[in-house]
Amino acid sequence: MLKKLPFNNPILTASGTFGYADEMSGFFELSRLGGIIPKTVTLFPRPGNQPPRTFETASGLLNSIGLDNDGIDDFIVTKLSYLRTIGTKIIISVAIKNIEECSIWGEKLQKAEGINAIELNVSCPNVSGGVDFATDPKLCERIVSAFCKVINLPLFVKLSPNVFNIGEIAKGAEAGGAGGISAVNTCLGLAVNWRTKKPQLGNGFGGLSGPAIKPIALRCVRQIFKAVNIPIIGIGGIETIDDAMEFFVTGASAIQIGTANFYNPTAAIKILDALPDALTEIGAKNVTEIIGTLNC
Ligand SMILES: Cc1cc2nc3c(=O)[nH]c(=O)nc-3n(C[C@H](O)[C@H](O)[C@H](O)COP(=O)(O)O)c2cc1C
Repeated sequence: MLKKLPFNNPILTASGTFGYADEMSGFFELSRLGGIIPKTVTLFPRPGNQPPRTFETASGLLNSIGLDNDGIDDFIVTKLSYLRTIGTKIIISVAIKNIEECSIWGEKLQKAEGINAIELNVSCPNVSGGVDFATDPKLCERIVSAFCKVINLPLFVKLSPNVFNIGEIAKGAEAGGAGGISAVNTCLGLAVNWRTKKPQLGNGFGGLSGPAIKPIALRCVRQIFKAVNIPIIGIGGIETIDDAMEFFVTGASAIQIGTANFYNPTAAIKILDALPDALTEIGAKNVTEIIGTLNC
């Protein structure tokens, strides 16, 4: 188990919602973040899903990007070269197809400089097979164990809320050697145009994010907190200091800001600035003192 999280502070930005960070560098001093998780990268380039890829819903955003990315080789040359100059922790989000891919990932990641941790995305709802590893505890354990063997970095496993008991999946990740759990990815959803009788997204179903999913994400964090002994990074509908504090008392040791980055790009830094006062308000000296203290 990770004794101490490998971040400068507990406020991070979520994969797929902060680009590769250079797009966001005009909004605030990025080095102040606890860490940045860039868009998920795969072994080979992926064109992503057909447009439209995003659709706004009540208090939420439905997306079906489909892990559009240029592959790990390009990522290391063109994206990581900038990311490692920022001065905060860089957590690379990786999606793998199967256990056989693990050894190739090991070789590629070993050669790459400037990676502080890995987030294994086993939970993308927008790619075929994308959530298989996140729906079965045994499968989750096998893939995490295989991946842990080839890397020498802290590994966070990002889980899907689209399961009956997320605590059981988290246990699988823990048994496989995960250093922590990131929870959660998007909730599977559908937006419909009744006039055309077509889905609003080109790919049909999509992943729902934003304020609409916060109660689901909090429920997941609580279930995971009760199931495992590794730290949890809470994700889902976080925009304000109140949201962040709710996640800490529910069981998260750190948090990621996702969809809020699109409409409030300084949300993460505002939460960081507001954190000392919020802790003082409940008589705590640091976040560690309040993690999981919810009476439930
Ligand atoms: C447009 C978009 C793209 C995303 N891409 C990724 C991705 O590449 N990898 C990943 O692990 N999560 C991805 N996510 C999920 C977010 O990282 C986050 O887990 C989810 O949106 C819930 O947090 P939020 O409600 O704060 O956005 C994406 C979310 C959105 C809205």
